[in-house]
Amino acid sequence: MGNKRLDDGLLISLEGVEAVGKTTQLWRLKRRIEALGQEVLAVREPGGTAFGETLRDLILHRVQAESGLAEFLVFAAARAELMATVIQPALNRGATVLMDRFVDSSLAYQAFGRGLSTAVVDQINQLVIENRMPDLTIWLKGEPFAIEEKDQLERRDAAYFKRVEEGYQWLYQQNPTRWLVVDCRQDPDIIFDTLMSRIYRFFKKNTRGDD
Ligand code: TMP
Repeated sequence: MGNKRLDDGLLISLEGVEAVGKTTQLWRLKRRIEALGQEVLAVREPGGTAFGETLRDLILHRVQAESGLAEFLVFAAARAELMATVIQPALNRGATVLMDRFVDSSLAYQAFGRGLSTAVVDQINQLVIENRMPDLTIWLKGEPFAIEEKDQLERRDAAYFKRVEEGYQWLYQQNPTRWLVVDCRQDPDIIFDTLMSRIYRFFKKNTRGDD
């Protein structure tokens, strides 16, 4: 589990390859959790800050790094800014933070996809997030839906995405209790209900104070 303090908000990340429905579920979750009277912050990675959105545009649309390490450090820089200026303050206020991708994306894409060492990626990730891992990570697993307009990372070959998928499987196996794995090809309403029932359990635990 994450490094959660008792008074901290809940940190939830959504993961998976492109076009599995992460963003749609994230906005539905935000609306539902807000309706419970909670402050909710929804952010995407890379992005979520002016600095991070500029790096997102750079890395998704402008230039490709030949070095996998260079690519990872750009994601890590965006993450460091987001963590320090947005996520940590929100958690400190007790808000629920919903992340469209987080540290596991770098492990799946840069370690498994591009061949960096998982130990190196993990070490820099932990430095950037000060060991504050997500309390829950949702993996929308399965065959992605077709995308019409692809950015430059989405144009990588099928073998790359297969390694990314294997990366997620490996990450899940490292710590199954942090993960909720859901088949992305199910009806979106069923997926949403599955996610919410797990999140309700977290809220209940926290109100009882035994998390
Ligand atoms: P998306 O969030 O719109 O799916 O696009 C983000 C892209 O960036 C996606 O191809 C995954 C990739 N990515 C990484 O390769 N490493 C990372 O650490 C993050 C956050 C994203």
